[in-house]
Amino acid sequence: MTYSPEVRVRLETDAKEIIGRYPKARSALLPLLHLVQSEDGYVSDDGQEFCAELLGLSKAEVVGVSTFYTMYKRKPAGEYHVGVCINTLCAVMGGDQIWEELSEHTGIGHEEATSDGKVSLERIECNAACDFAPVMMVNWEFFDNQTPDSAKQLVDDLRAGKPVVPTRGPSRLCSFKETSRVLSGLPDELAGEGPSAVGPSLEGLRVAKANGWEAPK
Ligand code: FES
Repeated sequence: MTYSPEVRVRLETDAKEIIGRYPKARSALLPLLHLVQSEDGYVSDDGQEFCAELLGLSKAEVVGVSTFYTMYKRKPAGEYHVGVCINTLCAVMGGDQIWEELSEHTGIGHEEATSDGKVSLERIECNAACDFAPVMMVNWEFFDNQTPDSAKQLVDDLRAGKPVVPTRGPSRLCSFKETSRVLSGLPDELAGEGPSAVGPSLEGLRVAKANGWEAPK
């Protein structure tokens, strides 16, 4: 696969805007990998060659980076990439059970996609949202306090094309490709939308205030 002339022009326009933000072009490699992922749904061979060419890097340098970070996919992700946190707190609060039941329900495993291309699954590490454990993410938007049943319903709804609203952030759930474009640094104007993390995140502060505790000086 090679990019058509139209796609190539569009990608180059976006890439040049991103590269222009950095003193050295090679510093733009991480966002550019997200950019090509937004086109292909994964970091394709052509995408890596595109990055190497625009940044003056060798293909080996690009591959060395793209294969290091798990957010860069080596095969097409689903339209909705579903992560289940299996780190310590989420695991003991039910994350392990969610993963097992969801994997069995969908018939796919870690970094695999359903045959309709709608959903892919990933066992993810801590997303710093432990106070809402067990946590799941769809295209990096939070779905808090999940159960095996709610997780299966969520994936069924995604596959059926029913509207699904994250617990926090914007009410419109972007596709994996749309999210990858945002991660490349090209905004979709949705960043300030929706509720943020409150409640359990502020519980420690509430207890400290109620007890008159202060941080050590
Ligand atoms: S352990 Fe799951 S978000 Fe921290």
